[in-house]
Amino acid sequence: MKTWIPIARVDDIPVLGSRCVKREHGLDVAVFRNAENEVFALLDRCPHKGGPLSQGIVFGTHVACPLHNWTIGLDSGCAREPDEGCTPRFLVKVEDGVVHLDAEELEHHATDLARPVAGPARRTVSA
Ligand code: FES
Repeated sequence: MKTWIPIARVDDIPVLGSRCVKREHGLDVAVFRNAENEVFALLDRCPHKGGPLSQGIVFGTHVACPLHNWTIGLDSGCAREPDEGCTPRFLVKVEDGVVHLDAEELEHHATDLARPVAGPARRTVSA
């Protein structure tokens, strides 16, 4: 049986926007709300180069990544073709206007994915 954690009221998530849920381990979870008041949750990491999807523009059931404008499906987490790749999704339950996330997923899901580090590549010199 799932343990659901209340995150926020639907009304507290901006329409066509998102809120981030911090986790003890792993990247934040971005919780999105579209114009139809549907709510979706994805790891806040674009499958392209790790951009923060929570800062993207929501339209329909998609979000446009703020870095290079890839379109990511909010219900699938996957990039729209011809782009490729998916970001992990999280289960969402909305009850009485309150958004809930699954406690087990918050604790363990996709905790191994980090945001890419910008900057010059490290070079190792062999002797
Ligand atoms: S990092 Fe999202 S489109 Fe490039």
